[in-house]
Amino acid sequence: MGKPLALEGGVKAVKQLGPYPSSIHVDELLELIDLWELPAATRKTLTTALRKSARAIRGPHLFRYYNPRPSKVDAAEKAFGAFIGSPHCLAVNSCTSALIAAMRAVGVGMGDEVIVPAYTFFATAAAVGACNAIPVIADVDDTLTLDPKDVARLITPRTKAITVVHMLGFPAQMAELKALADKHKIALIEDVAQAAGGTYRGKKLGSLGTIGCFSFDYYKVLNSGEGGFITTPDEWLYTRAQSWHDCAACWRPNRYASERGKGELFCGENYRMSELQGAVALAQIRKADKIIAGYRAAFKRIRDALVLPAGVKLQRLADPDGAVGSNLVIFMPDVEQTKWACKAMQAEGVPAGGIYDNNIKNWHIYSHWDHIMEQKSVAPDGLPWSGVKPANRPAYKKDMCPQALNYLGRSIVIRTHTHYTAADCRAIANGINKVLAKK
Ligand SMILES: Cc1ncc(COP(=O)(O)O)c(C=O)c1O
Repeated sequence: MGKPLALEGGVKAVKQLGPYPSSIHVDELLELIDLWELPAATRKTLTTALRKSARAIRGPHLFRYYNPRPSKVDAAEKAFGAFIGSPHCLAVNSCTSALIAAMRAVGVGMGDEVIVPAYTFFATAAAVGACNAIPVIADVDDTLTLDPKDVARLITPRTKAITVVHMLGFPAQMAELKALADKHKIALIEDVAQAAGGTYRGKKLGSLGTIGCFSFDYYKVLNSGEGGFITTPDEWLYTRAQSWHDCAACWRPNRYASERGKGELFCGENYRMSELQGAVALAQIRKADKIIAGYRAAFKRIRDALVLPAGVKLQRLADPDGAVGSNLVIFMPDVEQTKWACKAMQAEGVPAGGIYDNNIKNWHIYSHWDHIMEQKSVAPDGLPWSGVKPANRPAYKKDMCPQALNYLGRSIVIRTHTHYTAADCRAIANGINKVLAKK
């Protein structure tokens, strides 16, 4: 006969399981604390306190979805969307991911062309190739961002999107580029990797185009070590970007339901942000206004104290008040003087650097993108290059964007810091002026 089953009203064999502590616990938290390089005494105090209360500690749930606790990634998305002024915001694990998801969301695929600037980190162009589309390289002008005239020249019936990059925190010429994108009914994707917090005519960069892509990698103005965000005013594009960013569909209200609209479901990837990145990003976003204000104050202080001799110019700003302020660019009259002034400024202790030297490999300049110049492929199928008719195959040349090579070869970049004091800025400006006076 045996005992009655629980189904028949019998006693349950298993009364309770858990709750157990999370498998990630005090040891992992101590490793995290180690990253912060605390003073030895503080570390010891924390270690003792944490070990002592270990039994009471539950440990984290580091997956954003199905999280019994309020998700840090959710909170970071809300905070970043509000900061940028964008109704829809999606966290991802990098800006490269953000760019690919954004391009997939607007429908970029094999045979399409996407215009990218000659001056940007290679990831902007690589993202186009990763979508099996062709990166079409447009020249930049004295704003060091896309030259709208060159973009207009390069638009073809195959152009699906323009990816505009706000390099070094400087806003691109959005009015002209948006007019072009609207005229040709193509997407305008903003790569805001280097310009979170920058503005154009009073609006935050990343809120002006079809979709915005941000980097939160360590070297950016706001960062969580690695990470990124997508912003868009378009709910459908947001849905499609979510679909690409998590093929497991954890983001869906009803994970296994059929499509709510044609084009909602397809084979995507996994670009999910973890709660670890989300927590750091959230804290950064809460401080964003202060961080940007610090950069802008430093930028203005240094710029206003400069005495530029004839022939030396500041980079033109598409919006005079729009730069993040994390960099300031000076154009020298020629390459030789640029090299000399750069060296002399560095010797003065000024955080100065050149951008372009043909002999120094730099993946921020198109002529050094061997992967694209030589049309390399990951597989024998030859994609993305084989995805277009031979007549439409691009002919890349190392000297195809002469303005970019000219301006970048004559650029000196002065890096600023959000924590610069008025005295720091004065000293830097004095150092620059001292060198330029000897020019
Ligand atoms: C202009 C630009 N776009 C895209 C990226 C890629 O960002 P991530 O490192 O987050 O993938 C970078 C990073 O340096 C960048 O500077």
